[in-house]
Amino acid sequence: MTLALDKRNRACARLLADVHAVTATEGITPSTLHALKRKLVALAAKAELFPRADFEMPLAQGRSHPLLVEDGDGHGLYLTIGLPGKEAAPHDHGIWCINAAVSGRERHKIFRRTDNGAVAGKATVQQVGEVLVAPGTGMAMADHDIHSTVVEGDEPAIGLALYGYALARFPSVAWYHPQFGSVRASVSRRHAAPS
Ligand SMILES: [Fe+2]
Repeated sequence: MTLALDKRNRACARLLADVHAVTATEGITPSTLHALKRKLVALAAKAELFPRADFEMPLAQGRSHPLLVEDGDGHGLYLTIGLPGKEAAPHDHGIWCINAAVSGRERHKIFRRTDNGAVAGKATVQQVGEVLVAPGTGMAMADHDIHSTVVEGDEPAIGLALYGYALARFPSVAWYHPQFGSVRASVSRRHAAPS
């Protein structure tokens, strides 16, 4: 095992232990998400733990490398890579997440849904904020926050992402298409979760 891998594994285990220490008593709230984000930003600042050579670049767009995926229905911590220009339309993960940059820049726009959901497949969203996730910064999202992303500049955006559930057990993700006033949900992977 390389030194970076050994140190990285221990740092990731410590982060998850810290996360559980906070959430066991306080739960997941806007303020705990911000506290967790600060811990993830501190981990991402240790760039020597995440050498480029240890993580294959995506062939196109983006790629997520598992760092620590908890058993059962636990959390999932990933190193994410987005190539320059990678974009994601506004979407709602259905589960909380926090992000922090190791290198590169990714712009997140935050939206709110403005219709009442009365018409199936239709939705309108309005931009209500913007965060540039670059080294030293991160962002936190509650279960149903809506964001879009774009990787800016010539460098890949490399970051850490902690999700409430592992990607393999993700709930349905709602994708919004503002230009069409529509919404479409991806298939939930929650059936993989224990009941
Ligand atoms: Fe997302």
